[in-house]
Amino acid sequence: MQKNSSDTAHTQNRYDLIAPLYNVMEWPVEKLLFQGWRSDLWQQVEGPNVLEIGVGTGKNIPYYPDDIELTGIDLSPKMLQRAKQLLAKHQKGNVTLKEMDAQQMDFPDNHFDDVIATFVFCSVPDAVLGLREALRVIRPGGRLHLLEHMRAEWSPLASLMERIDGPLHYLIGVHIARETVVNVEKAGWQLQQVRDLTKGGIVKKIEAIKPR
Ligand SMILES: C[S@@+](CC[C@H](N)C(=O)[O-])C[C@H]1O[C@@H](n2cnc3c(N)ncnc32)[C@H](O)[C@@H]1O
Repeated sequence: MQKNSSDTAHTQNRYDLIAPLYNVMEWPVEKLLFQGWRSDLWQQVEGPNVLEIGVGTGKNIPYYPDDIELTGIDLSPKMLQRAKQLLAKHQKGNVTLKEMDAQQMDFPDNHFDDVIATFVFCSVPDAVLGLREALRVIRPGGRLHLLEHMRAEWSPLASLMERIDGPLHYLIGVHIARETVVNVEKAGWQLQQVRDLTKGGIVKKIEAIKPR
């Protein structure tokens, strides 16, 4: 059994509970910010064989390019169920969605050309383990594309985030004080570009490559 299996079960449980409310809760920020960021991120994806980790309710589905083969995974069956409903509306025949844990994926080594995830490594219980798995399943030279929120760079806000991280994780399964850029490097990825999308470095776009 995995060392962090109780944390993984907790995360799955929280996203299963949140699934019916997720799109409503995110609606304002989705309209104001996320849609533009998603569109920009997907323009960097070349494929043809692409893995999306943590598809959630399928918010990236409208941005999937037609000329790629996409495999999407998520830990939460209830989030995934919503993604499948949305996928049926978009009629994308090149997409397969599966329930799977990013920390322990069923894919062979060097299988994908790109890996993409949006607002996911704040929730994967062991983020470095998940990022290491992503590195394993992508081919050498393949690229990782992330949108992630993380611990603020301004230390008074970072301390506040650290203080409320535990209770928030308990309530909704998310960590708000992660150091995701550091985690990407710890997992063995080579950073290509890190861009701040908000003040204080709270949301970043991260591009990295699997060393050849
Ligand atoms: C904040 S939501 C983001 C969903 C979507 N990517 C988006 O942009 O709206 C985080 C998602 O990551 C999934 N997740 C968390 N831990 C995971 C893991 N270990 N393996 C796969 N998915 C995971 C959750 O179930 C949830 O659907």
